[in-house]
Amino acid sequence: MSNNSAVGIHDLSFATTEFVLSHEALAEYNGTEIGKYHIGIGQRSMSVPAADEDIVTLAAAAAAPIIAKHGNERIRTVVFATESSIDQAKAAGIYVHSLLGLQSACRVVELKQACYGATAALQFAIGLVKRDPDQQVLVIASDVSKYDLDSPGESTQGAAAVAMLVSADPALVRIENASGLFTADVMDFWRPNYRSTALVDGQESVQAYLQAVEGSWKDYGEQGGRTLEQFAAFCYHQPFTKMAYKAHRHLLNYAGFDTDKDDIERAIGQTVAYNTVVGNSYTASVYLALAALLDQADDLTDRPIGFLSYGSGSVAEFFAGTVVPGYQQHLRTEANLEVIARRKPVDYAGYRELHERSFPADGGDHPTPAQTTGPFRFAGLSGHKRLYQAR
Ligand code: CAA
Repeated sequence: MSNNSAVGIHDLSFATTEFVLSHEALAEYNGTEIGKYHIGIGQRSMSVPAADEDIVTLAAAAAAPIIAKHGNERIRTVVFATESSIDQAKAAGIYVHSLLGLQSACRVVELKQACYGATAALQFAIGLVKRDPDQQVLVIASDVSKYDLDSPGESTQGAAAVAMLVSADPALVRIENASGLFTADVMDFWRPNYRSTALVDGQESVQAYLQAVEGSWKDYGEQGGRTLEQFAAFCYHQPFTKMAYKAHRHLLNYAGFDTDKDDIERAIGQTVAYNTVVGNSYTASVYLALAALLDQADDLTDRPIGFLSYGSGSVAEFFAGTVVPGYQQHLRTEANLEVIARRKPVDYAGYRELHERSFPADGGDHPTPAQTTGPFRFAGLSGHKRLYQAR
């Protein structure tokens, strides 16, 4: 393979949590008019992790079907992207490497830049595969989005993991070389090491996102990217699904196009189905948008898709992928619908109890209650070590 051959997403699988909280239940508790959630931010429910789920169990559950299908012989790198890291030193991906029985001849690292990390992981993976096309890279985006109870961000929480196998001659999406980049030092959303919940300036974060859309699109053009009208659809980072609509309207306006409602719906409408019921999954969100699009669109063969990945703080990237002929045979549509449908509804009190859980930092034995029915569980802490079990 030459350096110009196609590299991209060969397989994509996602997992989400054991529990789900409906926005009706949240609205009933806090007295919000439900239209604000359903229409104003475009959210219907949020995935809620069980006491024995975390970014590792979600990541392993997302990646296991990929390993079952393709084996692990060619995977020499695992890149785990997350905002909700569980250790300051050890990469969460090492637990996943162990749970999935990956080969020891493998490098495993964790990447962080709020919700953008998985896109950096994807681009780094492409570079590695271009260097040696026999190798595959397992990219995992896994996050639990957690804001303070009773804060404006609470209604945008969620959790999910997306696993992607990056390889030469991919079966799903070829990622193109041109990429538009944007970095700005802004304090729109952040989480100091001593906090389990994110801090956010909500209105500032929306403006920072829109600025980043402009900046990354401008650079994309300067790097020789495609023109706007060439794209069949656009996968945006979706902290709440209405944000994708706002962002696309902003991009059309910035690029000098009419902001026709039907055009925007055509560009975005099929990308929001999973994020609207899962909630914000930070790094995973833009790739959940891709899963929803591929699962629902009639036929995207050879059509370019635009991606806008945004991570507060902030870094953004606009890039393009082309859908590979025959991709429909490689989708996991049924499994994707099943992981969403299998979640058990939790009432507001149950959600609040899960939200308030924390572990003593005393190094003692702190087992978690057995709640998840997923393939992996976080069994608790002992001697400051996290214990995981595969079923
Ligand atoms: N029916 C229909 N619509 C209604 C309504 C009703 N009854 N009541 C209110 N609305 C609409 C409002 O008009 C508003 O619409 P517009 O944005 O189009 O004006 C929308 O509902 C939201 O209302 P508010 O702005 O008043 O809501 P809020 O003050 O609660 O804040 C928020 C919304 C800022 C998104 C808040 O949820 C938040 O802080 N979320 C977390 C931060 C976030 O997600 N930021 C996104 C950009 S940053 C990013 O992308 C990175 C990341 O993942 C965090």
